Amino acid sequence: MNILLIGCGNIGFILLDVWSTANFYDEIYVIQPSMLHAAKFSKFNNIKFVPDLANVPSGFIADVTVFVFKPQQLPEILPKLQAIKRKLVISLLSAIPIQDIAIKLSDTPIIRIMPNVAIKTGKSVNLAFSAASLAPADKHQIEKIFENTGYLKWLDSETMLDKLTPITGCGPAYLFLLGQILSNETIKIGVAENIARNLVQETLLGAASLLENSDNYEELITSVASKKGVTEAALKILEPDLQQTMSEAIQAAQNRLQELKHENRS
Ligand SMILES: NC(=O)c1ccc[n+]([C@@H]2O[C@H](COP(=O)([O-])OP(=O)(O)OC[C@H]3O[C@@H](n4cnc5c(N)ncnc54)[C@H](OP(=O)(O)O)[C@@H]3O)[C@@H](O)[C@H]2O)c1
Repeated sequence: MNILLIGCGNIGFILLDVWSTANFYDEIYVIQPSMLHAAKFSKFNNIKFVPDLANVPSGFIADVTVFVFKPQQLPEILPKLQAIKRKLVISLLSAIPIQDIAIKLSDTPIIRIMPNVAIKTGKSVNLAFSAASLAPADKHQIEKIFENTGYLKWLDSETMLDKLTPITGCGPAYLFLLGQILSNETIKIGVAENIARNLVQETLLGAASLLENSDNYEELITSVASKKGVTEAALKILEPDLQQTMSEAIQAAQNRLQELKHENRS
């Protein structure tokens, strides 16, 4: 399989790192305009880095092209990509609908994937959607590309991918915020900052480990909060407001996603 990776920032680099150890590809070309981080790239000795799509040799056929640049770069990149021989395009760009890419690449199946930051540890939830029905071989290639990055969930609609983005895409940040708040509270009661952070980190990791075997939140909560106990007192304060605040937060993220779609078009 030949891969064309366009953009090698945070996410592009992680993908390259995963692919380079899995060794399932034939050739990879990476388009990366500035080589500010060239030192980081030197470990990939069998992958070719070029600054522009114009530098890809005319004989190269990209079985899979992966978009991991910023959405604002789309108008510049799409016309150049028309000159490249390509089969499938996978876009990881947030808030860019397939139709905005298909305008210029109507001859290519386009798949959207929305990962989250846990792609770094191979634990991402990767939402996937394809407008066109894919041949089993194409689906297999996509699954191969995202193997070892986390869980790949195919969705029936692009609208659902956008609706789920504030949950699976942004979700890790909500937990990190909770960790930060708990750390601050621990510091307030007189614990040194590094110890406070470590205590909270281990508490969250321990809680996450229980989720490996259960998604029954009610039971998990009951397992900590006994009737008239200490945890129950805290939960009575948290629950009503947190439910409402979370709904508002998810709605705000959804509104911003819709705004971004329009901003990136103009
Ligand atoms: N970060 C996340 O957690 C996350 C999660 C889901 C989806 N995404 C999506 O993934 C995409 C990449 O995010 P990121 O965090 O990896 O961004 P990033 O770190 O800013 O990386 C973007 C890369 O694209 C390169 N680039 C700029 N212009 C280009 C061009 N004309 N041709 C090819 N490459 C070009 C940049 O190179 P220079 O350094 O030279 O400018 C940079 O290496 C975004 O569209 C984002 O919406 C990100």
